[in-house]
Amino acid sequence: MTGPTPPSPYPLGLRLGGRRVVVVGGGAVATRRVPALLDAGADVLLVSPELTPALRAHVDAGRLHWEPRRFAPGDLDGAWLVQVAVDDRAAAAAVSAAAAERRIFCVRADDRTAASAWTPAVTRHGPVTVAVLGGGDPRRAMGVRDAVRDLLGARTAPGFAPSPEAGGAAGGRVALVGAGPGDPELITVKGWRLLTEAEVVVADRLVPGLLLDELRPDVELVDASKIPYGPSRAQEEINRILVDRARAGKVVVRLKGGDPYVFGRGGEELLACAEAGVPVTVVPGVTSAIAVPEVAGVPVTHRGVAHEFTVVSGHLAPDAPASLVRWDALAGLRGTLVILMGLKNLAAISATLIAHGKPAETPAAVIQEGTTAAQRTLRSTLGTVAADVEAAALRPPAIVVVGDVVHTLTPTP
Ligand SMILES: C[S@@+](CC[C@H](N)C(=O)[O-])C[C@H]1O[C@@H](n2cnc3c(N)ncnc32)[C@H](O)[C@@H]1O
Repeated sequence: MTGPTPPSPYPLGLRLGGRRVVVVGGGAVATRRVPALLDAGADVLLVSPELTPALRAHVDAGRLHWEPRRFAPGDLDGAWLVQVAVDDRAAAAAVSAAAAERRIFCVRADDRTAASAWTPAVTRHGPVTVAVLGGGDPRRAMGVRDAVRDLLGARTAPGFAPSPEAGGAAGGRVALVGAGPGDPELITVKGWRLLTEAEVVVADRLVPGLLLDELRPDVELVDASKIPYGPSRAQEEINRILVDRARAGKVVVRLKGGDPYVFGRGGEELLACAEAGVPVTVVPGVTSAIAVPEVAGVPVTHRGVAHEFTVVSGHLAPDAPASLVRWDALAGLRGTLVILMGLKNLAAISATLIAHGKPAETPAAVIQEGTTAAQRTLRSTLGTVAADVEAAALRPPAIVVVGDVVHTLTPTP
């Protein structure tokens, strides 16, 4: 025989800003629950004799108040909600009873049937929060939540109300989004979300093609690499496109390889938009300067080997009058040198570094098209790397790494 079906829960979005929430317990459950409470602006009082290191970090940062002892009913005075995160059933029941007496909703980690409120499985997508209750079955709730998250995240999802960063009816905006080094999965969650909301995408040459492939058909795609006139006029033209489209009320994403501010001219675009009064959001990206060596097995720092790394552009020859790079000074550094856009001038760069005292046998690596299926890695020394690159017919985009870290994880053969 089965009993009567329990009434279904009544869903609410609690606005906890500045309101006291008591968390009882300082273990794994509290560690998982507290960040969302803090994110909601709750005034969190944590009562527990012990704390996990993560919770202690919140205490140390002054984000919540900690009472290092066992629960006392008076802890609930002035509270709006209590979260019981202990597995001792008797202790949890005592908190529940004190909460019920004061008409305070009580979430229980140990026994959801004894709780007066349930925590849903949640996914956040910009301004949208989806909370799922699975009829008392948390696995079901998480399964449905995951499906909804995939749907919201799908790059082909129909546009829903854009987030504040994305602009919307009130006016156009520009987001400068770092697309990461090549693997389409290395874009950030925020960058990806803004891309799904874009009406115009202005994309660089090095942007992962698969990100563009999945744009909605109605999105206007401007291929910035095809703009004629040469580098500086082309940049002016890109600035003009960003400003014009935003002024026409469009949600514009300027999608750039790696990080927008690492040799990406993102700063110039931000200034152009600011001058035109167009609001801009900057979304950092995973830069190839660190990620590409990393996926090739080269950490840019390693304890006891390199405690500094320098990222430098090699697109101008060392003796070019316009070069701002102090190759002579770089030759004297002990740390890792990461050279972007350096293939064309590699022979001159390595000769200059050696001439200023960098040993010719310093390990060097060159990684072409890192993080993509076409990735190629060459390991060499500073003295021979230029010739080796030529012999192997490596081509841009590639990153050159110079320093002992090259062999830290992969010993010299
Ligand atoms: C104009 S810079 C842009 C850098 C970009 N903003 C970043 O943060 O990665 C372009 C240079 O970055 C390097 N690069 C970018 N993506 C790369 C990749 N997947 N593999 C190797 N080098 C890459 C190459 O040196 C290329 O010439």
